[in-house]
Amino acid sequence: MASVTFDNVKKIYSNGHLAVDQASFTVADGELMVLVGPSGCGKSTTLRMLAGLESVTHGLISIDDVVVNEIPPKDRDVAMVFQNYALYPHMTVFNNMAFGLKLRKYSKAEIKKRVGQAAEILGITDILDRKPKQLSGGQQQRVAVGRAIVRKPKVFLFDEPLSNLDAKLRVQMRTELARLHRELNATMVYVTHDQTEAMTLGDRIVVMNEGTIQQIDAPVTLYHQPQNRFVAGFIGSPAMNFIDGHMEERDGDYSFVAEKRDLCIAVPNRSEDIHDGQPVVLGVRPENLHLIADVHGTDNNGFVIAEIILEEHLGAESHVYGKTASTTLMARVNGTSNYGVSRQIWFQPDVDKAHLFDAETGQLLSRNNNEK
Ligand SMILES: Nc1ncnc2c1ncn2[C@@H]1O[C@H](COP(=O)(O)OP(=O)(O)OP(=O)(O)O)[C@@H](O)[C@H]1O
Ligand SMILES: [Mg+2]
Repeated sequence: MASVTFDNVKKIYSNGHLAVDQASFTVADGELMVLVGPSGCGKSTTLRMLAGLESVTHGLISIDDVVVNEIPPKDRDVAMVFQNYALYPHMTVFNNMAFGLKLRKYSKAEIKKRVGQAAEILGITDILDRKPKQLSGGQQQRVAVGRAIVRKPKVFLFDEPLSNLDAKLRVQMRTELARLHRELNATMVYVTHDQTEAMTLGDRIVVMNEGTIQQIDAPVTLYHQPQNRFVAGFIGSPAMNFIDGHMEERDGDYSFVAEKRDLCIAVPNRSEDIHDGQPVVLGVRPENLHLIADVHGTDNNGFVIAEIILEEHLGAESHVYGKTASTTLMARVNGTSNYGVSRQIWFQPDVDKAHLFDAETGQLLSRNNNEK
């Protein structure tokens, strides 16, 4: 097993496109690190540089403290699993898995042992004689993973390995990969654009956007303590609500005031960066917006009135969309609730669990201290 380090890595493609900039992170020995971000943000480029399939424009990539920038892919001791499996169609499952070992001149007995073990772990012992076209998508995926396992590489690299599978199988394979990671105790770097996959699989997650790392943290930390608006909006499904507004100071106390002044909410624990009149964005997760049928009094202190425009009943929970003067908000509430479209209702953000972002830079301004 091995650790992986990116030290200020940059990739500029030959057409001048800056695909990855200032990437610095370390994957610990035995850790499963997920790279996540929208399409085109530089995930595959980062992984391919680690595999040696793309050159590094600037910076250093190390595996176990050895700089690998100039080491050819075959000598890096990494194994990569691709989205399209890339199985050899004319070879049996056994030979697909054995191929890399044969190239490396392993003995027949050793090859048989390793393929047998990998097949056992993946539950594909009974299909070793079949050709890829006789396999389901999930089985093909297992064979592709098996081909990596038999190599016993220092680092496993996965580039969207589940995205060709249907939703149900994807969840099943995700569980299997998590189990595999535990059993092999292997160092893995896993690329996906699916934040749910990232949250459920990763020991830690690198969130990328437009070639730049936005935050590196454990899944739960990313969810509760996003460092900027991008991470806040990308991690979590359904997504966080954002309300544009500004800060207002009165007698030393600060409040967030929404654009149309239909919401005014006192903000405790303000950070030093906040000043009167500053344009900010309030971020509230759907589960932290409470619905109140009847508010006594007329001011908008801590509440915002909305008209329900959509109610989605998912069973265990319901999603209630309300149109306010400033924006549309979505609250995640108990599945048994039934408010009714067109009705007027008050949304109450839980200010202790809300996040304030600078409207211009998107950086987090103040975070509640009570959050876990
Ligand atoms: N060979 C290349 N030459 C020039 N630009 C490239 C090349 N390969 C990728 N790019 C560009 O670099 C950026 C990052 O690409 P990359 O494949 O790393 O994205 P990604 O995050 O893996 O996206 P996806 O989720 O769609 O797979 C994209 O804008 C892409 O168009
Ligand atoms: Mg990609």
